[in-house]
Amino acid sequence: MDNGKLSRREFFKEFGTVMGATTLLASYPWLSAFSEENRKNTENEKARIAVIGPGSRGQYLLNLLVMNPKVEVVWLCDDYQPSLDAAMQIAPKAKTCMDYRIVLDDDSVDGVVVATPLSTHAKIVIDAMNAGKHVYCEKSMSNKLEEAKAMYDTHKATNHVFFVGQQRLYDPVYIKAIEMIRSGMFGNIEGIKTFWYRNNDWRRPVPSPELERKINWRMYREYSCGVMTELACHQVQMGTWIWRDIPETIYGVGAITHWKDGREVEDNVGVVYTYKDGRRMTFDSIISNKFYGLEEQILGNKGTIEPEVGKYYFEETPPMPGFLNMINDIENKIFNSFSFAGPSWDPEIAKQNHGEFIIGKKRDYPDGSPFIMDAFVEAVIDGKQPPMIVEEGYYATVLSLLGQKSMDEKQVLTFPEEYKIDYL
Ligand SMILES: NC(=O)c1ccc[n+]([C@@H]2O[C@H](COP(=O)([O-])OP(=O)(O)OC[C@H]3O[C@@H](n4cnc5c(N)ncnc54)[C@H](O)[C@@H]3O)[C@@H](O)[C@H]2O)c1
Repeated sequence: MDNGKLSRREFFKEFGTVMGATTLLASYPWLSAFSEENRKNTENEKARIAVIGPGSRGQYLLNLLVMNPKVEVVWLCDDYQPSLDAAMQIAPKAKTCMDYRIVLDDDSVDGVVVATPLSTHAKIVIDAMNAGKHVYCEKSMSNKLEEAKAMYDTHKATNHVFFVGQQRLYDPVYIKAIEMIRSGMFGNIEGIKTFWYRNNDWRRPVPSPELERKINWRMYREYSCGVMTELACHQVQMGTWIWRDIPETIYGVGAITHWKDGREVEDNVGVVYTYKDGRRMTFDSIISNKFYGLEEQILGNKGTIEPEVGKYYFEETPPMPGFLNMINDIENKIFNSFSFAGPSWDPEIAKQNHGEFIIGKKRDYPDGSPFIMDAFVEAVIDGKQPPMIVEEGYYATVLSLLGQKSMDEKQVLTFPEEYKIDYL
């Protein structure tokens, strides 16, 4: 670990002996950037990278980039001076500008990292691809379906490296979880229950009122679809990744039930994605209660896996140790003497099943972000697009936006033909 960043070597170590590098690369070809062969190819090379939109997330990514000896951060571009000032503290040698076209005109730039608000992604990313740059774009790809499709089509036409910031694809716990699911350990996965609860208003302080929409862009539909594009986008990717399928129908409901402060995006949302044979994935979010936090609960007939907690649980648990059995017997004797429930009554609450850790220990890194950033740098140097990243990112965005569309139109949607791509 180096300043909170795991090296690629440590990335493989996370898997210990459970998965060899060869198995890993066969199952997850987008990890090719971490292979020994790739590392040799890029050993003495540097990627010249520009960061467009170094606000909150952009500065986090910039911190990762400056720690990578294979990166030279050449430009910082932001149309808001305070963001540029903060970014310059992190990469003082980089040039600065307020118009991204200046960056794209610089032939020495190999790749751009785009971390601006969603409504600006399509234009910047498409212009960058047409200017011959490799692109990392933060999720969600866009707040509009047609723009996400246009970005995907431009990527296919120009064939430069394109990463969408779905960092779960590079998170060792998630990768291991998917491998376990594929092995059949949990039986047939019949449902995926995702939720993200928090208790805050999501507001950022605004130095003067005319900056409200610029700084709090997440609250307004012109720029964002709120929890669907900010939170659901990460979680609903699980459906595509696990089932290798897209939903047949989408039904969403949402309302502003708590934060009635002028925002335009819902703070209370539920979406049901129904797949072939009735399998379901749900997304639920309330941002005025954080008790349950966030999770993707992947439910099979033989077990459950929860990647955020980093644990899995089998349906059949080993017999309890003698002492607990004795206490249970005593409790049963006491409770059985009351007639409040018939003999068939068995409370269907979660059993005392503490599960096992997916990678043998509690996760000690933030998420897959350091790895995905490293992988982008490798891909930029190598000039090769790792498979699946764009497609997974594209469908994650489309699923989020279809949830929002269903909510807006108060209708059950069928997956629109025009947004299907050649994948799965
Ligand atoms: N992957 C993740 O876990 C994760 C986490 C947080 C945010 N994000 C994503 O990162 C992106 C940015 O989110 P944020 O919270 O950092 O927003 P932010 O508002 O903090 O930062 C955006 C920056 O872009 C700048 N900007 C806006 N328009 C610009 C333009 N045309 N040219 C140059 N700069 C411009 C703004 O001035 C600001 O500094 C969003 O897509 C968001 O969904 C991803």
